[in-house]
Amino acid sequence: MFSSTPFLVSFLLLLSLSPLPLRPTLPPPFPPSSPISASDELDDQTLFNRALNSNPRKPKPTFSHLALDSKSSKPKIAFLFLTNSDLHFAPLWSLFFSKTNPNLYNIYVHADPSANVTLPPGTVFHNRLIPSKRTYRASATLISATRRLLASAVIDDPANLFFAVLSQYCVPLHSFRYVYNSLFFSTTFDLTRPATGSDAELAQMGLKGRPKSFIEVLSKSTSLWKRYAARGRFAMMPEVPFEQFRVGSQFFLLTRRHALVVLKDRALWRKFKMPCYREDECYPEEHYFPTLLSMEDPDGLNRYSLTRVNWTGTVNGHPYTYRAEEVSAELIHRLRKSNLSESYLFARKFSPDCLKPLLGLAEKVIFRD
Ligand SMILES: *[C@@H]1O[C@H](CO)[C@@H](O)[C@H](O)[C@H]1NC(C)=O
Ligand SMILES: *[C@@H]1O[C@H](CO)[C@@H](O)[C@H](O)[C@H]1NC(C)=O
Ligand SMILES: *[C@@H]1O[C@H](CO)[C@@H](O)[C@H](O)[C@H]1NC(C)=O
Repeated sequence: MFSSTPFLVSFLLLLSLSPLPLRPTLPPPFPPSSPISASDELDDQTLFNRALNSNPRKPKPTFSHLALDSKSSKPKIAFLFLTNSDLHFAPLWSLFFSKTNPNLYNIYVHADPSANVTLPPGTVFHNRLIPSKRTYRASATLISATRRLLASAVIDDPANLFFAVLSQYCVPLHSFRYVYNSLFFSTTFDLTRPATGSDAELAQMGLKGRPKSFIEVLSKSTSLWKRYAARGRFAMMPEVPFEQFRVGSQFFLLTRRHALVVLKDRALWRKFKMPCYREDECYPEEHYFPTLLSMEDPDGLNRYSLTRVNWTGTVNGHPYTYRAEEVSAELIHRLRKSNLSESYLFARKFSPDCLKPLLGLAEKVIFRD
């Protein structure tokens, strides 16, 4: 006799495999509504427009200015600290900056206002706080905060040519001089690109070719589909087909050109700012930047990060956090090693009590290169 149970089971199985979005079974969106209010959006848009308009295609410091006209401003690195606590390693960073000409860098800090962060007075961080808003883990507020940092740095100084995003758990692995030379002058720092004839010619003049951003861009990850579909199966279409969806660390280093690409974008932002159904499959800040930049300028990217992170034994989406007793010269040397560049420049995450041992290593190890 025909039994209906197996039939029912396979029918239900078929139904569950159907490409139709089964909306009623989805939990309510997380968080219940987007934490980005209309007035915050408007503030941000005004800021980003100011940045875009403050950037005329007129002379600005370039690599050739650098060599040919010593009077023009030298190119600078903007260090962008994104934090929701005090900057635990401010004394180490102060030492990092103290050894250099203050005309070669700028510092900007975005601090969640609810954390009452105090920037150490009398240091390079004094007065470097930009107008900041609340940030929440695994939410688009982290994208907004990063864009605010980029915009503030673009407006503040046309000599800012590289923009490095860091957090309160990041530490330097080298001297400022090493970082600066690697980014602006070295033709051997990036190991992924064979030197071309024109590179060699430029190198003879002490210059290098068009600068590229350093941003991790991965297209293979076991959780990629879950994260793509975190707002609903078709939510990202048509702007972002799954084939173009990327993941990478939010701690990247962008050229000025790419900072402007990020500030100009509205189409992808409209998608990525939508809340997700599940917090643990969201992390929009790890997707927005690599997806946008790999769509807009795939050839302008070194597709890896200069910030070393240890994902072995990850818990709750947090990477491994080094403790004070693990800090040693050997660890610094190990963390520098990269297969893609001559060295990593920064590393995360370090617990606040690592400050003392790191300061102990600063002169003899970290800033010796
Ligand atoms: C920040 O300060 C406010 C007002 O003094 C206080 O209510 C709040 O608890 C503080 N937050 C933290 C994280 O200390
Ligand atoms: C990464 O973290 C693991 C613990 O999860 C540790 O055993 C390992 O030594 C760390 N790797 C480096 C390069 O520090
Ligand atoms: C470099 O590549 C080797 C061989 O693939 C790998 O074992 C090692 O973990 C890589 N090192 C880093 C720092 O990624």
